[in-house]
Amino acid sequence: MTRRPAATLPARSGWRGAAGAPNFGDMTAIGTRVGSVDWMAVADALDARGYATAPGLLAPAECQALRSLYGRDEAFRSRVLMARHGFGRGEYKYLRYPLPPPVEALRQAVYPRLAPIAQRWREALKEAGRFPAALDDYLAQCHAAGQTRPTPLILKYGAEDYNCLHQDLYGDRVFPLQMTVLLSDPRDFAGGEFLLVEQRPRMQSKGEVVPLRKGEAVIFAVHHRPVRGSRGIYRVNQRHGVSRVISGERYTLGVIFHDAA
Ligand SMILES: [Fe+2]
Repeated sequence: MTRRPAATLPARSGWRGAAGAPNFGDMTAIGTRVGSVDWMAVADALDARGYATAPGLLAPAECQALRSLYGRDEAFRSRVLMARHGFGRGEYKYLRYPLPPPVEALRQAVYPRLAPIAQRWREALKEAGRFPAALDDYLAQCHAAGQTRPTPLILKYGAEDYNCLHQDLYGDRVFPLQMTVLLSDPRDFAGGEFLLVEQRPRMQSKGEVVPLRKGEAVIFAVHHRPVRGSRGIYRVNQRHGVSRVISGERYTLGVIFHDAA
């Protein structure tokens, strides 16, 4: 296992934001909520459909605090206007290290639950390597491979905005599962559904809409997953996106576990 020298570990503490930045409160509750998710059911759903949902991972006040962070540029390393790149319409911002406490707590607590699933998928697809049990050890592998920039992001969609079907790949290192948390109340917008499309070999593509509540997470395959068929295991490609927002405003938090080159 490649171990990153301590000096290059992403700072986990010291997040203060700027004057007037939201107070995120006690983060131990996030670990407790993650611990109470039925991870066996999540693994079954991921195997069967390529996605699973987990309600209430973030509390309403945490959702609100993260939404209010969006206007504070000092919390972010970059801003992407989707229309400029042909990605869709709307915008998102990549968070900086150290990440805001709820994002760091969620990424740290969820990774060890997903690593065994990721490893099982890796072995089923006959891919080499081992996902470490802890996020910091996995990030050490990313950083040693030159993928050092944080990937968690906040996305903001208004009326007419949408996100084209895509995969969040940022280099050779790919942790095969990622998570999106709805930060808005679903009553605050119309349209803007979370979309997943599965591309199966020699078959037509299959689409799913995943309704989410405020604070609920959808966990899904980043690029592909193994599926057992009559002639053994095959690879199913998956892309995700967001349908056009008809009215209102929709914010989400995206948690990707690999860092970016
Ligand atoms: Fe994405």
